[in-house]
Amino acid sequence: MAVAVEARSLDAGYRGRHETVKVLVGLDLVVEAGAFVAILGPSGCGKSTFLRIVADLLDPIGGEISVLGEPPRNIRIRRDVGFVFQDSTLLPWRTVRDNVRLPLAVGRSSLTREIKDRTDALLEMMGLSALAMRHPHQLSGGQRQRVAIARALLGEPKLLMMDEPFGALDEITRDRLNDELLNLWRRTGTTIFFVTHSIAEAVYLGERVLVLASNPGRLLLDRDLRPIKAEGNRCQREDPVIVAVMAEMRAALEQAS
Ligand SMILES: Nc1ncnc2c1ncn2[C@@H]1O[C@H](COP(=O)(O)OP(=O)(O)OP(=O)(O)O)[C@@H](O)[C@H]1O
Ligand SMILES: [Mg+2]
Repeated sequence: MAVAVEARSLDAGYRGRHETVKVLVGLDLVVEAGAFVAILGPSGCGKSTFLRIVADLLDPIGGEISVLGEPPRNIRIRRDVGFVFQDSTLLPWRTVRDNVRLPLAVGRSSLTREIKDRTDALLEMMGLSALAMRHPHQLSGGQRQRVAIARALLGEPKLLMMDEPFGALDEITRDRLNDELLNLWRRTGTTIFFVTHSIAEAVYLGERVLVLASNPGRLLLDRDLRPIKAEGNRCQREDPVIVAVMAEMRAALEQAS
């Protein structure tokens, strides 16, 4: 089994000038390469903090973490990790196409043919080709999130960290983007970490669902859903088995805060 992420007694938090805030304490976790991991947990329990540690946007304060068998830094430098943030951060003065290209365009005077082609392929894949010359304020919330995902995919990351990417969308759009995301994951084999506050979304998307608890932040429940899902992590939202798992998650979340 190839391992995407391995955390051993991981402590995470924020060092201030006077005190250190510990957020996650003693986290042990092994995630297989290619997994789709959904993460639930009460607000403030450390979900975003965990994604930041994996993506090397934050250093751990204790314990160990490796990503694809290496320090997270190596993975970030090779652009093997993509991040879709909790509030999508598109640059308002750039077009959709230029927002997608941004990570590879920074610091370059000209774009290579390869980057241009890859940008256009991603726009096509995310159904954004017709919107390529628009600016972010001319897009719907769902379209903006698709731009943010396309941008995160530009470097063909082996890991994709998604922090409540669809939180602000209506349910129909969200369901559609969930299916698009699953298709993308099946095609690419990218390891995905997906944070959400929606139990239904976590259970629908995840092959594995983690429930984190707060005070201190820790792993409360780690559920492998592969045994109850069909080939390719497929399920019906209304399947009684799926509904029962959602009830189990809800009970865990009630304990978690
Ligand atoms: N830069 C920071 N400095 C100090 N404390 C921080 C910082 N960022 C986050 N925290 C604290 O760390 C804890 C965990 O934050 P985190 O953003 O990981 O929570 P979360 O689980 O993602 O919550 P939410 O569901 O609201 O997004 C919170 O108590 C938060 O106040
Ligand atoms: Mg968060």
